[in-house]
Amino acid sequence: MMNDVDDLSSTTPGASSGNVDPCAELRGKRILLGVTGGIAAYKAAELTRLLLKSGARVQVVMTGAAMRFVTPVTFQALSGEPVCTDLWDAGVGNNMAHINLSRDADAILVAPASADFLAKAAHGLADDLLSTLVLARECPLLAAPAMNRQMWENPATQRNAQSLRADGVELLGPACGEQACGESGAGRMLEAQEILEALIAFFQPKVLAKKKLLITAGPTFEAIDPVRGITNLSSGKMGYALARAASEAGAEVTLVSGPTALAAPPGVLRIDVVSAAQMYEEVMRRAQDSEIFIAVAAVADYRPAHPASEKLKKDEREGVPPLIELQLNPDILAEVAALPRPPFCVGFAAESRNLAEYAARKREAKKIPLIVGNLIQDGLGGENNALTLFDAAGAHPLPPGPKIALARALVAHIAKLLS
Ligand code: C5P
Repeated sequence: MMNDVDDLSSTTPGASSGNVDPCAELRGKRILLGVTGGIAAYKAAELTRLLLKSGARVQVVMTGAAMRFVTPVTFQALSGEPVCTDLWDAGVGNNMAHINLSRDADAILVAPASADFLAKAAHGLADDLLSTLVLARECPLLAAPAMNRQMWENPATQRNAQSLRADGVELLGPACGEQACGESGAGRMLEAQEILEALIAFFQPKVLAKKKLLITAGPTFEAIDPVRGITNLSSGKMGYALARAASEAGAEVTLVSGPTALAAPPGVLRIDVVSAAQMYEEVMRRAQDSEIFIAVAAVADYRPAHPASEKLKKDEREGVPPLIELQLNPDILAEVAALPRPPFCVGFAAESRNLAEYAARKREAKKIPLIVGNLIQDGLGGENNALTLFDAAGAHPLPPGPKIALARALVAHIAKLLS
């Protein structure tokens, strides 16, 4: 298994040849997973599996208390590596397991991180293997706190968390919710999948650091009456994936979103709108202050000119279908691109045929530097997509894959064009 991971080289996810798994976002990374004593230790087993599935190599280090909850055998079987538990391991050649282990790691991830671990790390204590290698590290430290609500809220723990953040330690969570002790509140460890995603985000190159990025996503809904309307099919997944990828790349992201069932990615400011007119207003209010504008939304081209304030009754018209007069909606992207000092504008062209021709024509018509083309049948509503980027240099097809991998490749391309 480890050899397979090594074979995958260090290619950028989603941005190169087709035989690289775009889901292996942690390939080539060596993660030292510290497990401390807490009931959430069982979730670290699932986390180990997810880290390996993402291409990482995982070395588990357990504290004495952690071994009361889960045995090292579980982690050894999952990671394929012996689990380290002892500062005084005579089996290690130079008897300096703490130095050897932290030297090799790309990051130390402690999950669950107990209140005791946070206190030790905040004060530089080093009385067991994990705390010692944390003190001796040169790589980043991420920790997912997990403890009872009162322990987390205790001013001592809050002080420790504050000092760790000030020292550059990335604290992941904790979440709010039901706790093993039967109480409910803040202190629950994030789910394994959330920790994995936070780690992947942490490793993304910060190619858009501090850039102000505005993005539209989802459909718009144009009212006919209080219960009916005109809309476009759009799940919003591509736009939300882009918002997430841009935020991971260090951008300050504002997402103006039509109605979707999706949650805003972490760190993204989301403004909810319904109609194209509302989307236009929210975008124009912010466009001049933005450095990048990405229009992913499937904006309805037309809206009913006179929406009814009461529900239209079909029986009043004796079977005659009503005529709905339509009015053109503003082209948000074209209007932003026409501003005196426009942000770097990126458009999307979802076509059912002649992609290259229509996308290139749209790029010129809207006077934008970059347009992202996709065939509707490749991406609508699904988790995967196939995109081609069209800019002044020509067409750049990206290998088909998950929307988040394509979003990261697009973010890298935008950063390249901006530089
Ligand atoms: O002209 P067309 O709708 O095909 O162009 C698609 C691109 O323009 C997408 O980027 C879409 O978000 C944007 N657009 C817009 N406002 C509209 C229509 C489309 O911003 N009213």
